[in-house]
Amino acid sequence: MDSLGAYIEQKRDAWLEELCEFLRIPSISTNPDYLPQIKKGADFALEALKRAGIEHTELIEGVGHPLVYGEYTGAEGAPTVLCYGHYDVQPPDPLEQWASPPFEPAVRNGNIYARGAADDKGQVMIQLKAVEALRAVHGRLPVNLKFIFEGEEETGGQAIDAFVPKSKEKLKADAALVCDTALFAPDLPTLCIGLRGLVYTEIEVEGASHDLHSGLYGGVAPNALNALAWILAGLKTPDGKIRISGIYDSVQRPARSERASWRRLPFDADRMRAEEIGSVALTGEKKHPLERMWARPTLDVHGIVGGYTGAGAKTVIPGRATAKVSIRLVPNQKPQEVLAALEQRVQELTPPGVKARVVKIHGAVPLLIDPNNPYIEKAAKVFSRVFGRKTVFVRSGGSIPVVALFVDALQVPAILMGFGLPDDNLHAPNEKFSISNFFRGVETVARFFEAAGQV
Ligand code: BES
Ligand code: MN
Ligand code: MN
Repeated sequence: MDSLGAYIEQKRDAWLEELCEFLRIPSISTNPDYLPQIKKGADFALEALKRAGIEHTELIEGVGHPLVYGEYTGAEGAPTVLCYGHYDVQPPDPLEQWASPPFEPAVRNGNIYARGAADDKGQVMIQLKAVEALRAVHGRLPVNLKFIFEGEEETGGQAIDAFVPKSKEKLKADAALVCDTALFAPDLPTLCIGLRGLVYTEIEVEGASHDLHSGLYGGVAPNALNALAWILAGLKTPDGKIRISGIYDSVQRPARSERASWRRLPFDADRMRAEEIGSVALTGEKKHPLERMWARPTLDVHGIVGGYTGAGAKTVIPGRATAKVSIRLVPNQKPQEVLAALEQRVQELTPPGVKARVVKIHGAVPLLIDPNNPYIEKAAKVFSRVFGRKTVFVRSGGSIPVVALFVDALQVPAILMGFGLPDDNLHAPNEKFSISNFFRGVETVARFFEAAGQV
């Protein structure tokens, strides 16, 4: 083992403990009650940057949750890598389904269980520890680094969306390193070159001016919840076709060569169905499941509120009902156009007697990265070396809103180098992160910094 490997090995316990400390902060971005915890999460990330030896750090406060910034400019003549991660997490509920409490990290069979373990605190920590290790072993860093960690990735990234376009000089870099994705399979080094975009909305339906007795008024009064159900049912067929006109017009089929590369991946649809999803069947269009998840738009209802949902029965005609609905987008689709088409379709579907409105909550532009650039080539090489296998290129169905902005506004290639696993239970109970992936991640990112310094 070389000195970098030895240093990482020797730091195992201390780093895990430090990660646990980060994971104990319930920095849930979507719930305003947790604002003090968001602040704590930001402070922790800031202090961790300092501990890693990044001298220039600052907390950038303005709209939304604080951004954590840091930079190292001591590698004269070397390129600059902009490193990104997020310190916010998703809400942990349903709490009763966690085997150990979400904000009391627990180690079980080689994994660390906690909300945010994989998404994304474990991966933020990987970047920081890569820096610490390189500094400790070489006394300096092989590449210039900038760090930007946000606290509202899980809610659409307002602060960073405002910050990036007006900070092009400050964020100027040669490549962006994003650690917020997953390996395609355990032990398989994976670079992600595509993310879906998103239009997240709330559909509000108003019928009567107040709730009514369903016996006295049933038959004459509009029912907002019935109307909402009608609208939602009209948005998608049971076999997965979105019924919004024009929505598929700009969708491009991935090139034959890319689809062929997907068929060579170690993918077992039935295993995914049984072990990750836990359903009797996969649903959707008649296309390969990876194409459905990575290169086709989808529409999902996330929650419905309205009427009586308590114990027993209440005979009520709800005056109001709302649903949260999102559409995932693929390259070429424009969030604004899809939103407008959804609004139009909702109006078409709205039955007499009610009014419906589509309110946008947030969105993300889809992303497709051209893998032909020296930074991705270096990333693939070091990834292969650390994991001892050839790196695969995949897309992902998820979204990381700011990445398209890095690419468009800062004109940098993005390297999506993540160390999660497909069954990490992101956004779900019992989120976990593999401890061995954590340490291999530190080594991979450190090696990437070395390689990037030589581009
Ligand atoms: N890190 C995930 C996205 C992800 C996970 C990409 C695994 C690739 C592999 C990210 O934190 C996430 O959950 N994004 C949200 C974005 C949204 C709330 C704007 C998503 O995709 O739902
Ligand atoms: Mn994430
Ligand atoms: Mn997430």
